Amino acid sequence: MEDESSSSSYPPPNITSCPHMVQAPTVISMVGLPARGKTYMSKKLTRYLNWIGIRTKVFNVGEYRRAATDQYRNHNFFDTSNSEALALRQKCALMAIDDACNFLLGGGEVAVIDATNTTRERRKLLEEIICQKHNFRLFFVESVCDDINIIEANILEVKVCSPDYLGMDKNEAVEDFLKRIDHYRVHYEAMDCGHDKDLSFIQIFNQGERFLVNKLAGHLQSRVVYYLMNIHVLPRTIYLTRHGESMMNLRGRIGGDSELSPRGMEYAKELAKFVVAENIPNLKVWTSELTRTIQTAQHIKAPKAHWKALNEIDAGICEGMTYEEIAEKYPEEFAKRDQDKYHYRYPTGESYQDLVARLEPVIMELERQENVMVVCHQAVARCLLAYFQDKSSEDLPYLKVPLHTVIKLTPVAYGCRVEYVSLNIPAVNTHRERPVKQERLEGHTTSDEDEDIHRCKIRAMSIA
Ligand code: F6P
Repeated sequence: MEDESSSSSYPPPNITSCPHMVQAPTVISMVGLPARGKTYMSKKLTRYLNWIGIRTKVFNVGEYRRAATDQYRNHNFFDTSNSEALALRQKCALMAIDDACNFLLGGGEVAVIDATNTTRERRKLLEEIICQKHNFRLFFVESVCDDINIIEANILEVKVCSPDYLGMDKNEAVEDFLKRIDHYRVHYEAMDCGHDKDLSFIQIFNQGERFLVNKLAGHLQSRVVYYLMNIHVLPRTIYLTRHGESMMNLRGRIGGDSELSPRGMEYAKELAKFVVAENIPNLKVWTSELTRTIQTAQHIKAPKAHWKALNEIDAGICEGMTYEEIAEKYPEEFAKRDQDKYHYRYPTGESYQDLVARLEPVIMELERQENVMVVCHQAVARCLLAYFQDKSSEDLPYLKVPLHTVIKLTPVAYGCRVEYVSLNIPAVNTHRERPVKQERLEGHTTSDEDEDIHRCKIRAMSIA
């Protein structure tokens, strides 16, 4: 037994560490009664961590349970005197923990275990497997909520649509879910600064009304705490748009700081009318520091802020050139960018990866705000969109962000609704299509499929 545990512990012998893996992989374990927003937080946090380049994956124990049995009839399934169901739930939890550890052994950096973990016994088990057996770090995120309005809203928004309640009347489903919560409540032991003084955790009360943080260990945990303390669940919409068509766009030239074209000026006027028609309470407008975004926002009647962080990607030695000129003057650079657009850095300029790092404070502030219109640039808008739409770094640099179009981003349940509203003013197309890669033609796989295949291979490797 001893040999087995040491051979599967971190660091794995044959995996070279990730460039930003500055500490042991971390398991973030959610804690809390059902309908306390754990899945919402798990998904959102995972999306954020992946966006900033930390390889993260959620392991939702409920999904393991649903894959293992379709026997959910009613809340009695969660009664601890139902020994058969209890054994099955225990097995599913162990499978999720096991998969989370394998993910980390295979090069993942953060695994989020989305489950109730409401007893000390279960948390002890997590500690034994994650910390003692594997030497990973463990951070608990507990959501405590006693506001019945928040709980009921959560049940109505996401729980009644769960596969557990397929075909059931809404009110019946709410009733059943409340009884399910009661089963958990009988054995619930919240985290406690006395009893759990040696554990690293954050308790979030009533969706961010108050926080308690205990024994933070390391940079990643501080980052997670900072993020969780900034997000909110108030309804709002983020409006994302590029500047109106610029004189440089008309000439097919990248970068620079040119003025708007006559059609761009028209877009600026239409955008202001659009804002009036939308009737957006307390709207704030953010632009970059470049002339074209400031001109685009000029007619909008709302408080404005200009962020240097929103400036367009710096194309370094290629600033002001057309793509054709770059291909001719710097053919090797041009080819390198096509091979890995996300990581490619223009000489003396920036990469998309640099841009994401530059935009992180913008995202954090956006999370704190309510209705905001962001007037920015093609590459910047792609990075922001990728955050809200959970797009991979491979797809990010090719997201379509047409000129003279407003993208409305509205948070819904566990994701974000995205609507493209064209303001019907003609403009040039500045989008360069993704070059067709040879392997793509041969293998017929998309980037997501590639990723899954890669993960399966890693899993198979670590089991072997
Ligand atoms: O062409 C407009 C523009 O905003 C340029 O200033 C910028 O370099 C470019 O788009 C970014 O798009 P891509 O990464 O596809 O070259």
